[in-house]
Amino acid sequence: MPKTSILSKAIAAAFVVLTVSVIGGIITMIILYKTEISTMNPTPRPTRPIATTALPPVMRLPKNLIPLSYKVFLMPHLYTRIIEEVNVTSPNQTMDFVGNSTVSFQCVERTSTIYLKSMKLAVTNGKVKNDNTNEMIEVSAMKTHRDDTNFLEIQLKEALEAGGNYSLSLSFKGEISENLDGMYVSKYVEGVPEYEGDTNTERFLVATQLEPADARKVFPCFDEPDMKAEFHVTIIHRRDTTALGNAEKSGSSILDDEWKFTSFHSTPKMSTYLFAFTVSEFTATRSEHERVEINTYARPEAIAAGHAQYAATITGKILSFYESYFEINYDQKKLDQIALPDLAATAMENWGLVTYHEGALLYEEGVSSILNKEQIATTIAHELAHQWFGNLVTMKWWNDVWLNEGFATYMSFFAVDHVEPTFQLKELNILANLHTAFQMDALASSHPLSPPQEEVQKTSSIIQMFNSITYCKGAAVLRMLADVVGERVFIEGVKTYLSDFSYKNTDQNDLWRSIQKAEDKNGGHTNVKRFMDPWTKQIGYPVITINTTNGEVYQKHFLFNDSAESSLWWYVPIKVMSNTTKPSLVWLESSAPEKKDEFQSKNGEWILANINCTGYYRVNYNPENWDRLLNQLEIDPHRFPPMNRGQLIDNAFFMARAKLVEVTLALNSTRFLRQELDFLPWQLTVKNLEYFVLMFDRSEVYGPMQAYFREQIKGLYNSLRNYTDNSTIPKDHASQHSQILAVEVACSNELPECLEMATKMFAEWMNSNNTNPIHPNLRSVIYCQAVAAGGKKEWDFAWERYQSSSDTSEKEQLRVALSCTKKTWLLNRYLEYTLDPDKIRLMDVGSIISDIAWNPAGHALAWNFIRAHWDYVSEQDGDMLINAVTSRFSTQFELDELERFKTQYTLGPAANEVDQAIEKTQVNIQWVRENKDEILEWFERETAE
Ligand code: BES
Ligand code: ZN
Repeated sequence: MPKTSILSKAIAAAFVVLTVSVIGGIITMIILYKTEISTMNPTPRPTRPIATTALPPVMRLPKNLIPLSYKVFLMPHLYTRIIEEVNVTSPNQTMDFVGNSTVSFQCVERTSTIYLKSMKLAVTNGKVKNDNTNEMIEVSAMKTHRDDTNFLEIQLKEALEAGGNYSLSLSFKGEISENLDGMYVSKYVEGVPEYEGDTNTERFLVATQLEPADARKVFPCFDEPDMKAEFHVTIIHRRDTTALGNAEKSGSSILDDEWKFTSFHSTPKMSTYLFAFTVSEFTATRSEHERVEINTYARPEAIAAGHAQYAATITGKILSFYESYFEINYDQKKLDQIALPDLAATAMENWGLVTYHEGALLYEEGVSSILNKEQIATTIAHELAHQWFGNLVTMKWWNDVWLNEGFATYMSFFAVDHVEPTFQLKELNILANLHTAFQMDALASSHPLSPPQEEVQKTSSIIQMFNSITYCKGAAVLRMLADVVGERVFIEGVKTYLSDFSYKNTDQNDLWRSIQKAEDKNGGHTNVKRFMDPWTKQIGYPVITINTTNGEVYQKHFLFNDSAESSLWWYVPIKVMSNTTKPSLVWLESSAPEKKDEFQSKNGEWILANINCTGYYRVNYNPENWDRLLNQLEIDPHRFPPMNRGQLIDNAFFMARAKLVEVTLALNSTRFLRQELDFLPWQLTVKNLEYFVLMFDRSEVYGPMQAYFREQIKGLYNSLRNYTDNSTIPKDHASQHSQILAVEVACSNELPECLEMATKMFAEWMNSNNTNPIHPNLRSVIYCQAVAAGGKKEWDFAWERYQSSSDTSEKEQLRVALSCTKKTWLLNRYLEYTLDPDKIRLMDVGSIISDIAWNPAGHALAWNFIRAHWDYVSEQDGDMLINAVTSRFSTQFELDELERFKTQYTLGPAANEVDQAIEKTQVNIQWVRENKDEILEWFERETAE
């Protein structure tokens, strides 16, 4: 796209207009700002000699200057539409922005150098003023460090004195990014041209994505989470557009034919990564809330069609839920949410202006599935929780980002349950969360939830912190703590934490202290820090081994790789019950084996530990107890809480992977599923089987394995078949989940009636004139199965629909389905498409390559593809791609290739994932070698007539 670079005439005109008209505070602000800068003669005054001994900082900003507030003016030059009329030359899009900023700060230690962070900006015109005396201080040099520090170093002719207040003004220019970072452009197509003769319906908007370290790409700033300040923002934008910011609008006016400005009230005191603004043609749907004005913005067409309605309905309720749960009101007068066609994350919690992928916010009745609806509720609940955890109270540094993400994840379980009780998502989400955390944390290359600060310095290391440990283990250990001290005490501590540290920064010790206070006040005896530190500062988790014949119990670090040595241990709270006793709490307080009465089976009864899976650990038993538990599962599974039913299977499979139990025990634990109609145990089985599928779907084990699961699923599939065959759905939510899962398991294991149903329905859609006969809940799975069973015709149809559909959930379902084909040439062509931004949006590139890699037919293609195009694809979720393309690796040859990849490519943020992939591959090689024959035999025996 051609770019202009000059500071536009219009901004100059704007300032002229502003000096002659009197239109509110904004003008005074601009005039003041202009006059201060231009009329003040620098008057150097004699001071003490400048100290020259201070060493330059290494990565972090020195703490000698404390920012208080920023005034920021930003002017993105982008057009939101390029009106193209037949035979008329249209203007070029412009992709640059200009701005200026004044940051006021306090000096707490004498210095003659100001360090800020600035990246990809051309910064000029540095002016420093002593706010106490109004004198200017001369800048002697200004230098941008072109290294990992991103320092903007400003040398002064005289020193700033401790206790003084100063301000620094800067002008800067930058480019609007096309990579979804910093201030970036997002594109979409409006369904209908505005008027006849208008040939271009492409639209553009400007948005920001600054977490964790990209505020420095928008304006030079103290870009660290504990350098909180207030932001006074003015956006100068094209006349026919709307600007949104963190705070509510304070004024807006037309400047000339082309430009207008919008000013915003001051933000609360907040971290730079939460700064946000958008400029677009979007419109909004309003939500109900007694005090806060909530608006959900989206493409005008989507708003007109009511697609933001569901989000708008639940947002007010979720906000109110948190307000009363935390007893602290949301701290702004307005809350905007906006559904963006492009966003690097799924959603981002910018204070007062939360951004979402369209698919995570827009819901279309009759097109979106319940899974979409659940994702919308969960995502909103997560981002709104951040308005307290993250925005109001922020971690001191990124090593403790789990305090943001773990809390937001944990709190979302409660908020979703509150607004959508019928979804019954709490248990499901909790188990899925545990399963994911357990998976990554069973590797020796895992990392502590809260690593030392020194280990998280570079931006690439910071980005790596946003992983399942931070999100899922974070939520899991909070849940464990809440269970030990009691939910009431926990929330009391959390309230104190939020109110004591509002507008401040914390580390985990602050949280422990707040909860300890509540625990002590309520007469509890838990030493919170002593209990929690091992869970947050060490990697991994224990497996508790219980011998019910003699009551002996001990803990051991659980690792998939049993050759890895570890002497770690934890304070482990164990809730235990038997078929004759109620749950009671027992603590394991050392690494030594202990004998406890509660773990001894007196009369041959089973013993079950970790009731409701509140503990972040796994449990293994002596074979007799395993037999009794599995037996109970087959006779009457309802004796166990549903979560434990799910987790027993999960435990058995993980134990088998770590070679702590025979693999056949895990397989035996799936026998009872033939009768199981509940969703939870099935879901957990499917998750666990993913590993078996990945290890064996290219081998002779796969046939008998499919045959076994075809039999197992028949019961569940047939119980819902009346609905499925007629493309209708059962009433209750849990059964809807079961239906989706039944079709998925049945079709992927080639149950003939399922394949027939999927192919028939897809064909009906292909032959119908645009009306889709498939129920939205079943579309994902049917599209995928039909494309897999079909050929070019089905693929081309799906591709055509993918390109022409403007509906987000429909698009996503088709995008995934396209990767399901078994034809390599189609998969290859699809991979090639990801290199063309006109065919595939940048934000979808990572997902498509991953989806292709999950398909056994595409696995090798995807691995070759990412190596051939590493520079391009590593920019798009490089880390997630590594996980996907190496998921089947289980041979020495694959391990060698991976090791070669590690040494020959620049890995960046994917480095950690590559190490984990190497470890996983080593484990897989050994596991397959040791277990394959036995597994094959087991499936053959089970399926022999
Ligand atoms: N704060 C994150 C967004 C984010 C993630 C920014 C990584 C920078 C790096 C946001 O709150 C978040 O967690 N988003 C999730 C979705 C959420 C529902 C779990 C995401 O984008 O995956
Ligand atoms: Zn989050």
